[in-house]
Amino acid sequence: MTTAHVVIDRDFTLSDIDRRLFGAFVEHMGRCVYTGIFEPGHPQADEQGFRKDVLALTRELGATIVRYPGGNFVSGYDWEDGVGPVEARPKRLDLAWGTLEPNTFGTNEFIDWCRKAEIEPMFAVNLGTRGIDDARRFVEYCNHPGGTMLSDLRRSHGYEQPHRIKYWCLGNEVDASWQIGAKRAPEYGLLAQEAAKVMLATDPTIKLTACGSSYRAMETFARWEYEVLDRCFKEADFISLHTYFDYKPDTSEDYLSNLAVLDAYISEVVAVADAVAATRRSPKRIMLAFDEWNGWVRTRTRGLEQLLQPGWPEHPRLVEEVYTAQDALLIGGALITLLNHADRVKVACLAQLVNVLGPIMTEPGGPAWRQTIFHPFALTSRLARGKVLRTAIGEEANETPHLHHCATYDASSSQLCLLVLNGSVDGEAELKFDLRGFGQAFVVGEAHELHHPDLQAANTKEQPDTVVPQPLSGIEVSEHRVTLRLKPSSWNIVALVPRQQ
Ligand code: AHR
Repeated sequence: MTTAHVVIDRDFTLSDIDRRLFGAFVEHMGRCVYTGIFEPGHPQADEQGFRKDVLALTRELGATIVRYPGGNFVSGYDWEDGVGPVEARPKRLDLAWGTLEPNTFGTNEFIDWCRKAEIEPMFAVNLGTRGIDDARRFVEYCNHPGGTMLSDLRRSHGYEQPHRIKYWCLGNEVDASWQIGAKRAPEYGLLAQEAAKVMLATDPTIKLTACGSSYRAMETFARWEYEVLDRCFKEADFISLHTYFDYKPDTSEDYLSNLAVLDAYISEVVAVADAVAATRRSPKRIMLAFDEWNGWVRTRTRGLEQLLQPGWPEHPRLVEEVYTAQDALLIGGALITLLNHADRVKVACLAQLVNVLGPIMTEPGGPAWRQTIFHPFALTSRLARGKVLRTAIGEEANETPHLHHCATYDASSSQLCLLVLNGSVDGEAELKFDLRGFGQAFVVGEAHELHHPDLQAANTKEQPDTVVPQPLSGIEVSEHRVTLRLKPSSWNIVALVPRQQ
């Protein structure tokens, strides 16, 4: 049994939690849009063809912001193809994924879907095949109230009010060889800056994310971030990070090393962004948008081109990863890491939402169900609110590399939330939280444990509830202390509420 001792204090806070930390991603890829969120004719489809079962699961997931329409797709996308009368919209070759794009779902449908899902949209502009003219026109179409050609075009499409899309990405993974219209850092930095200038001139209220590296192992990582931000420091609010965890699925604890890498990656991007600020003696802080992250283990290929299927199929089954209990532990651990960097990570998007690397799966004409990774995400989004507290772990910290924890406190409800991953495959853990300085007594509001004796267990259409949270028992709460006893390979979340006098 591992034991550890953590001190927390209500007044020692790290940061507010931006609710956008619990974002997701919808790309025109595989079956994320078509037969994922949108399937006219499905028994659960509403009058617009949106699957109501998926809408309900999206709300339950607690996703707050959703990035759209890509991903690699956006780098060859002409947004004009996806607006206006559906019968007049062109079919196009999508070169990113080797598919046929029917364009029966586009910008306005996505906005309608977001409103129904109670989600904020985050849009990306195409800086692959297109440039600043397209970017400014797209912002005008979406966000200008009216009285101009493009805003009136939107109104003629039935959208009288502007969409007021606040968050915009300046392209996608532009550093990557697989990207349509990939660029080197100086070219991209200049293009991002010029696109940002016209987008901000069109709507000064928007917030912009410049592309960081496609992942930390890119050869140009860190130099890319520096050069790009050095060019568009004034215009950018965010720099993006992307990560798809990879590991050999087995019963070892190796997969947890992904968490240390994630932690280092965030710290490194913060350091680079702040170095750019320092050269300007600027107090401005560029925030981090971790706008693609997830596990990608079993459907991974050496090159993305190996995923392409012959014959330009429409919405084929593409990277429909079946997540396991082990993946759910990793995703739960990553949420802890993201929360512990909430002072700089203000947006994060689990990629993607449905079917393609999705926490939600669907069958065309059939049911929708929750993958294992759905559960830690939904619980964290619902319970981890308010501020992240700074936690101090006792001397045993170095001896407990398998323990990952985080504490949040919501002053408006006085709810304290504790999240702990015990990544050890064979050792139980006892964690004592010393609640110094809270000045109030707590009782357990709710407590959940995600654990399955078989780390490779998964949820399927036939058995959708194989891996689901169970009540966490054995919690001891005294005046100043909470003691949790945690199973090996378990992710746990405990919400403590004030004891009524
Ligand atoms: O999410 C799948 C793909 O992964 C995205 O299109 C791309 O941005 C990343 O490489």
